[in-house]
Amino acid sequence: MYRVACTDRVDQLRSTAVKVLFVTPECYPLVKTGGLADVTGALPLAVAPYGVDARVLLPAYPGVRDQLTGAEMVAALPDLFGGEGALVAGTAGNGLRVLLVAAPHLYERGGGGPYLGPDGHDWPDNHLRFAALSWVGAQLADGLLPDWRPDVVHLHDWQAALTAAYLRFGRSHPAKSSGKKPARAVAAPVVADPVRPATLLTIHNLAFQGLFGAHLLPTLGLPPAALDVDGMEYWGNLSFLKAGVQWCDAVSTVSPTYAREVLTPEQGMGFDGVLRARPDRLIGIANGIDDTVWNPATDPDVVAHYSARRLVAKAANKTALQTELGLDARPDAALFCVVSRLTTQKGLDLLLGALPRLLAAGGQLAVLGSGDRELEDGFRRAAEQHHGRVAVHVGYDEPLSHRMQAGADAIIVPSRFEPCGLTQLYGLRYGTLPVVARVGGLADTVIDANGAALRDGVATGFQFSPVDVGPLAEAIERACDLFADPLAWQRVVKRAMTREVGWGVAAGAYVELYERLVARRSPVAT
Ligand code: ADP
Ligand code: GLC
Repeated sequence: MYRVACTDRVDQLRSTAVKVLFVTPECYPLVKTGGLADVTGALPLAVAPYGVDARVLLPAYPGVRDQLTGAEMVAALPDLFGGEGALVAGTAGNGLRVLLVAAPHLYERGGGGPYLGPDGHDWPDNHLRFAALSWVGAQLADGLLPDWRPDVVHLHDWQAALTAAYLRFGRSHPAKSSGKKPARAVAAPVVADPVRPATLLTIHNLAFQGLFGAHLLPTLGLPPAALDVDGMEYWGNLSFLKAGVQWCDAVSTVSPTYAREVLTPEQGMGFDGVLRARPDRLIGIANGIDDTVWNPATDPDVVAHYSARRLVAKAANKTALQTELGLDARPDAALFCVVSRLTTQKGLDLLLGALPRLLAAGGQLAVLGSGDRELEDGFRRAAEQHHGRVAVHVGYDEPLSHRMQAGADAIIVPSRFEPCGLTQLYGLRYGTLPVVARVGGLADTVIDANGAALRDGVATGFQFSPVDVGPLAEAIERACDLFADPLAWQRVVKRAMTREVGWGVAAGAYVELYERLVARRSPVAT
């Protein structure tokens, strides 16, 4: 595995104006379904002080262009997988330099967010929608814009990973009449610099692999050679993610523990063999959080601002949250919250199993989330049965997620696997102690309040293992016991709130990686 000497000392790094293109399907504050957006919205700004000039490429979903200032078309994109498109440049509200792939035939649709149609299922042409994003990423890498060519192309998840395939094979067009054979190559932009940009794939979640039928290969404009077991073939299908894993210069995941876990058959989701084949290219860098967005002392969404030094005001947020959600306004009840996608990954079925013990220990539960119907219904039923003690808000609500973090005493993250996880980091920052499964990034970011850690004053939350109902219930009970001792609880809260969770360390690690990749860039094959 790559070793990066983490440093947050900007002046120690040599970096001068390394140009990095982020290619991503989502980016906060423009469009978000989960943690990926938080990362691609914050990391480009976090590396800026190191001299990195980062721009973010994403699709122009409805409403995204309107959020940019100074938006203007900077290149035409003819022949973009069934229609014409344009590249639009502009600046987001947080200062992020953004490039949009504007292509009405691919992205201007209703539906449920970036990936799903109105029926709640994936759009049937998602392979083309994200091939188009990736193709434009490859064109930018090859010099589409005369005044800005990246040194590093940083791809995020399967939706961007095909960029690596286009950089390797180019893109050919199937003959319109037969739809079979490549008839003509799409003209590649002029490459002024013979050294191609370095490529980095960040896997935010190995569960999402971008799998499509192998028969779709010609529609992507890729040659049969791409569909090799050493290419992007995956059990007879195409995997966009595998293209990135095979053909990027380096692969990263979003925590060191997850980087080790993905090398095992249990957690590798069928990719462990591919990743093990070239372990020297793999690195784990734990995410940070954007504390201009997540800071209880300045957060515009919370009822009362507070900090580790002015903790007393946190109580007003708790009362407000209890009242808002219809919970009994009791300061003495430990209020646990969940802010999550409701899916198998997140282990929230285990929380339903542990709920009787949470309630028996005197706790309350507030859930914000959406996803699997069964889980939504399970929490709705629990809220009906335990009126005043359990509340659920089914849906996606960004301001409420901030009020939950500010108002709750603890946040529960019982994930079966978790590449990094951000809600436990927000919990630390808001003094809302995380109760987490000891997996992936959760294991890397929370220090369990065992006897030794409490004595040494380093505890920041509660971990449990194995990931099951019993151990989760025990961790909740331990949290309730500590909560019953207000001074001891407050010591852990203060420790959690002052722990470094910003992007400083991770940004330094990414910059070192970018520099190392740039130094190793290879000439374009001719
Ligand atoms: P993942 O990306 O796997 O869903 P993370 O913990 O990395 O998990 O990030 C989840 C992000 O999405 C956090 O910013 C969290 O606050 C947010 N989030 C999840 N569910 C909701 C919801 N129902 N409403 C508002 N924000 C949510
Ligand atoms: C993915 C992972 C999550 C991670 C996020 C941002 O959605 O599930 O663990 O925090 O990406 O990297």
